[in-house]
Amino acid sequence: MQNQKHLCVLGIETSCDETAVALYDSARGLLAHALHSQTAIHADYGGVVPELASRDHIRKLLPLIQQTVISAGLDVRAVDAVAYTGGPGLIGALMVGAATGRSLAWAWKVPAIAVHHMEGHLLAPFLEADPPMFPFIALLVSGGHTQLVQVRGVGRYRIIGESVDDAAGEAFDKVAKMLGLGYPGGPAVAALAEAGHPGRFHFPRPMTDRPGLDFSFSGLKTHVAQVLATVPGGRQDKADIALAFQEAVVETVVIKCRRAWRETGLTRLVVAGGVSANRSMRRALTEMAKAEGCRVYFPRLEFCTDNGAMIAFAGCQRLLAGQSDSLAIVSYARWSLDSLVPVVESVGSE
Ligand code: KG4
Ligand code: ZN
Repeated sequence: MQNQKHLCVLGIETSCDETAVALYDSARGLLAHALHSQTAIHADYGGVVPELASRDHIRKLLPLIQQTVISAGLDVRAVDAVAYTGGPGLIGALMVGAATGRSLAWAWKVPAIAVHHMEGHLLAPFLEADPPMFPFIALLVSGGHTQLVQVRGVGRYRIIGESVDDAAGEAFDKVAKMLGLGYPGGPAVAALAEAGHPGRFHFPRPMTDRPGLDFSFSGLKTHVAQVLATVPGGRQDKADIALAFQEAVVETVVIKCRRAWRETGLTRLVVAGGVSANRSMRRALTEMAKAEGCRVYFPRLEFCTDNGAMIAFAGCQRLLAGQSDSLAIVSYARWSLDSLVPVVESVGSE
């Protein structure tokens, strides 16, 4: 890293259904992080209710910030800057974090920066002890996005493949609903798949029989519905379907990552976003990397899904490079990853 200035950054994440806060120090690393999940609030509705999400962020964010600062053993005067998720995400939920983060920064007379949520995910493996070096391929698999990104540095992103319809996490969530597993779906489908008999069903690997790095997961969901209609639908049937679905998603992702490696000549892969917590996917990508002579990097499990640490870290990289936002409260429901300002010298530069 070129820039030697030392910064302690408060990170705030409120883009969807977790209120998350962290303190990241550029010299000392992650000092504290805390998260409040809204799962119990949305479970009855089978998915995230945006208005309920916004209201709960309002209730939980300030106490969570206070708790995080105290557990780091700090006083708020030690905070040098505030990073909050500026998008993409649910606009009301984003505005809670943005208004709170921007206002605290104003009151504390420190800079604030809006962080791209997917950049946060993409950089999450840098919070680990053995972080990747640039350049690498990033596979971002979350509830809202499935993207393959060629990464040359912080903010130097080229999207080389993405889902033309549902994101991988969205497909997990919809299949969970069909199987009566409720919300949130990904971990529930993965848990049920453990009891599945391999080989009973074989689902298609969408868009793998043609060139290119794009994904499509909505047909898989239809396939699940069709297969489900042909069986009595007991627990074993559902477990077998969950396993076949998960295998299809995992193998599709493996095929596309291998293709991305071969096409770009890069030898490192970062996998991040909620679905990267899936153990079967982690195992399959690790095995494939070994066979290809490449290396794969994941965040620890708790930093695969939404968290404050990744936002504090990503914001810190930009702040160290001298970037910050005006007094505006920045919230974008949609925000393209490849429109970000590059950071020329940054952590992980070769
Ligand atoms: O990154 P994330 O927390 O939020 C977004 O940015 O969307 O990702 C949430 C998504 C959800 O769709 C959830 O079902 C999925 O990640 N997910 C999983 C697992 N854990 C979370 N999908 C499959 N297997 C898992 N273990
Ligand atoms: Zn996320």
